[in-house]
Amino acid sequence: MEPLILAIDDEEHMRKLLQRALRPQARVLTAATGREGLQVAEKEQPALVLLDMRLPDMGGLEVLRAIKERLPRVPVIMITAYGSIETAIEAMKAGATDYLTKPFDVEELRLTVSRNLQINDLAQQVQLLREELRSRHPEGIVGESEPVRELRRMVEQVANTPATVLLTGESGTGKEVVARAIHQQSARRERPLVVVNCAALPEQLLASELFGHEKGAFTGALARKAGKFEVADGGTIFLDEIAEMPPHMQAKLLRVLQDRSFERVGGTETLRVDVRVIAATNRDLNQAIGEGSFREDLYYRLNVIRLHMIPLRQRKADIPLLVRYFLNKYDLRRRIREISPAALEVMNSYHWPGNVRELENAIERAVIVAQDGVILPEHLPFTAAPGEHTRGDGFIIAFPEKGLSLDEVERQLIQEALRRSNGNRTVAARLLGITRSALLYRMQKHEMA
Ligand SMILES: Nc1ncnc2c1ncn2[C@@H]1O[C@H](COP(=O)(O)OP(=O)(O)OP(=O)(O)O)[C@@H](O)[C@H]1O
Ligand SMILES: [Mg+2]
Repeated sequence: MEPLILAIDDEEHMRKLLQRALRPQARVLTAATGREGLQVAEKEQPALVLLDMRLPDMGGLEVLRAIKERLPRVPVIMITAYGSIETAIEAMKAGATDYLTKPFDVEELRLTVSRNLQINDLAQQVQLLREELRSRHPEGIVGESEPVRELRRMVEQVANTPATVLLTGESGTGKEVVARAIHQQSARRERPLVVVNCAALPEQLLASELFGHEKGAFTGALARKAGKFEVADGGTIFLDEIAEMPPHMQAKLLRVLQDRSFERVGGTETLRVDVRVIAATNRDLNQAIGEGSFREDLYYRLNVIRLHMIPLRQRKADIPLLVRYFLNKYDLRRRIREISPAALEVMNSYHWPGNVRELENAIERAVIVAQDGVILPEHLPFTAAPGEHTRGDGFIIAFPEKGLSLDEVERQLIQEALRRSNGNRTVAARLLGITRSALLYRMQKHEMA
């Protein structure tokens, strides 16, 4: 559909000229005064306005501001007299998107108009994408792979329970993102979410950080100080890197989890709080228990609801969405037009040891180093791991906490190879890098043939 343009100019011949010049590409309405122009603008909602700087009834800038107030997104091109560059600059500052100096030729007019219509189109698209992105990820958890959908469902379910949540998963998988999402979706959202990194402080300081201290409790305790549990009253406390908590503190925390009460360091008064506890770790707590560095009873108290973050390498379907999300976040000037297929391929075959955080850093960097608006493989700080190209996704094996059986892995690999080769054993053997007879031998071993 042809766009609607409004031309505001007091000179009859100018209105005619604009109309004639633009007619092939647009429908042009005209107005002879500022006031009339404003009325038409409001009623017809044009896609673009051409505005003469000098009008009989109102100043051009005044009209410009009034239009911007009513239709903030409509591009306005000012028409100024030759030699009045200062006024043009002033107009741009007041929100005009472009200007033309009289006399201009028809080609120049058409070009300026179509360029501004295009920019506006793009701006609207970006706006729409942003809104779409926001409405799709109100909780900040981006991803549409099955593990992420499941995670989102769980977050929704647990948010409004008082239950303690344990978040586990590799570094950079989004444990803090999920902790914030749980808080945001709970009835506690108006109250604070207090984050404590249990690895950051030595035992004595951690105690005072969590539970507060009385004046004079230790050297340097000049005044009474409230602890994080007090501050978080009515809200949520997020205990990050819980595996690093010193044993003595673990005992204290256990008590808080049992009856939500504690004393300040150096104090005798027992305080009671209403706090939702979320803990996180990227370590294997069962192993820590085995090594004697983590209390088993505390583990059971924390592990009421467990949410495990799946590493990015096991949900590569989320990579394009995450890339788009981080581009939106870091490419503020919208310079990146495209991610080359080769760069996407590299991202797809990479094993992402640092998970989403690593992807986020890679995009932030690529936005800076990709000069001509296209992200290429050389803009990424890593290359695909050798061999993974030919093997494709899903074959980087993660060790589950309980360990795994090599026999079982072999059986599953054979099954997968046969599936991909549609049962053709020669092809399957090639996929596995073994001879056909070696494959047959193994299939017999696993009773698959
Ligand atoms: N699903 C996701 N959607 C959007 N951003 C994410 C997602 N997962 C992680 N991120 C981003 O990746 C970065 C790392 O996430 P986060 O800090 O939550 O990881 P973590 O699991 O707590 O890591 P660590 O164990 O190292 O503390 C953050 O900038 C976060 O915003
Ligand atoms: Mg974290």
